[in-house]
Amino acid sequence: MEPIKITDDIYWVGAVDYDIRDFHGYLTPRGSTYNAYLIVDGETVTLVDTVRHGFEDELLSRVSKIVDPARITQVISNHAEMDHSGGLPGIVRAIGSGKPVYASAMGVKNLHGQFPAEGLNLKDVAKEKPAEGGLTFQFLDTKMIHWPDSMFSFVPERGVLFSQDGFGLHYASTDRFDDQVPWDLLRSLAVNYVANILTPYTPQIAKVLETVKGSGLLERIRIICPDHGVVWRSEPGRIIGLYAHLVTQAPARKAVVAFDTMWHSTEYMARALTDALGARGIETAYLSLKHNHRSQVATEAYEAAAVLVGTPTINNQLFPSVSDLLSYFRGLKFKNKIGAAFGSHGWSGEGAKIVQAELAGLGWKMPAPEVRVQWVPREETLQPLFDLAGAVADEIDRVAPAAAV
Ligand code: FEO
Repeated sequence: MEPIKITDDIYWVGAVDYDIRDFHGYLTPRGSTYNAYLIVDGETVTLVDTVRHGFEDELLSRVSKIVDPARITQVISNHAEMDHSGGLPGIVRAIGSGKPVYASAMGVKNLHGQFPAEGLNLKDVAKEKPAEGGLTFQFLDTKMIHWPDSMFSFVPERGVLFSQDGFGLHYASTDRFDDQVPWDLLRSLAVNYVANILTPYTPQIAKVLETVKGSGLLERIRIICPDHGVVWRSEPGRIIGLYAHLVTQAPARKAVVAFDTMWHSTEYMARALTDALGARGIETAYLSLKHNHRSQVATEAYEAAAVLVGTPTINNQLFPSVSDLLSYFRGLKFKNKIGAAFGSHGWSGEGAKIVQAELAGLGWKMPAPEVRVQWVPREETLQPLFDLAGAVADEIDRVAPAAAV
């Protein structure tokens, strides 16, 4: 396995996981990478982050093409989550037990909590600086991007920012750099990543971006090296700009109709709503939960102004997949959403009412009551659905008007 040179003294030495599809409940259709970096600065050799357990040999193989792994002086752990630290104990054993591992104060705590028996030589970067040669390290607290331990490391002499989960995306490929992949694909993968990983933390990300801007760091960043996806070397400002936009959760002129169905009645309602919203000039994603993972719905929903959720009633409850989706939404805490609920039923009809209450409970604006259809929808029973689509479209017009032509 070969390393990839980023600068004369900084290399990518991570691992590519082509097979992963379930990333703690989040679908990764393009796999992922666990990026790690080696900084060779004379006698001081620093490994920045490691890999998921199982990929240790891949990392060590890449390192060994540059230096003997035993020459690694120290490890910097920017983020303690297992996809970056699972391989840490094995890698430390390989490079020499007792080598120092630098992390934030919370990182020290988390790494100890995760690997209590490993005897890692953990050091808090706020109390002890890593060894430095011609290159130096600056650390930035980036709590909640993605965990409380998260930090960025910056090497000012090279303008290289190691941003762990920040500015990442899940993309397994032989491409290592942003200029090797079309921007549209990178943008969609970045939205998918932010929607499913970082949505609850957008206020913290906005603050970090402000701090970075205010500190003058922004102008000094030449290359961003995240822990997933591509290295941003051609235009790092582009991904920073996308993040600055995404964290606002500004509503776009778009709707999502997400539903499940038992005997096609709720499906028929979903189709009618999709048609009606489309007729108002609103891009509408029609997403059956039979064919779309909750994280695909979240991705489509992220920039959408409105999310309409449909469920049949089963045993006086929601359809299980709809319940799963609402639980996911509760955790993500989307902001600035318009919501609507609909569904068919046979006799009791609680499903759509529960969805209505759940979406309202998330703080979403609900412009109309839920629409329920008993048994099978027919042309003459669809009017309430068209009224619902109209009420949602009116709200979308208000927050995301159609562009003038
Ligand atoms: Fe890629 Fe929060 O770990």
